[in-house]
Amino acid sequence: MKSTNEHWNSIFTGKEDHELGWYEEDASQTLKFVRTIPRLNEAMVFLPGAGTSILVHELIYQCRHLVLNDISDIAIQRLKEKIKDQRKITLLHHDISTPLPENIPMVDVWIDRAVLHFLLEECEIEEYFRNLCSRVKVGGYVLFAEFAPDSASMCAGLELHRYSVEEMVERVGVDFVLIEQERYNFINPFGDRRPYIYILFKRSK
Ligand SMILES: C[S@@+](CC[C@H](N)C(=O)[O-])C[C@H]1O[C@@H](n2cnc3c(N)ncnc32)[C@H](O)[C@@H]1O
Repeated sequence: MKSTNEHWNSIFTGKEDHELGWYEEDASQTLKFVRTIPRLNEAMVFLPGAGTSILVHELIYQCRHLVLNDISDIAIQRLKEKIKDQRKITLLHHDISTPLPENIPMVDVWIDRAVLHFLLEECEIEEYFRNLCSRVKVGGYVLFAEFAPDSASMCAGLELHRYSVEEMVERVGVDFVLIEQERYNFINPFGDRRPYIYILFKRSK
């Protein structure tokens, strides 16, 4: 089944944040990587599938501006209601597997936790990476956190394309240099183990 606005809206409508399979009480695993990025306080940061993540509430203090995208308008609305300093955010309701609107600015940092792995068709994955390459500045950073090859094959009722480090390196292409990687055993709110790969890249050209 394809990742759609309707599918995600029904999930976000029916559940509280702590009932979502990918919910984390704190964003320290992602922040550990993000904090290694130089001059974060000056950075324009893009989240391709922000959901209702706690990460947003941490990042808002640490970077210059956040562009928060999601395919679910309900997730975006929920996020908006929780964010106090609206001046530092731009909200976008867009399917990241289709070309981004031209007015989206170039960004210093792109952070994807558990979004890319929902794209199954080759053309969707390719468009995702075209978006990424068209928006991340030279010298900018990209952090991926996706299900590892031996993680669950489904999440949120959808099939997944799980990623090895090797596939990620190939997908992102020669303009990006791998800075750091880590396998991380996420334990979801139901006590199940969901191994992720975390990979940080820097754009070199
Ligand atoms: C598993 S959740 C992760 C949310 C958030 N990144 C986090 O870590 O809590 C996946 C998110 O990606 C969004 N999403 C799924 N497919 C998408 C697409 N094609 N374009 C943009 N967002 C998408 C969903 O609506 C959902 O909010």
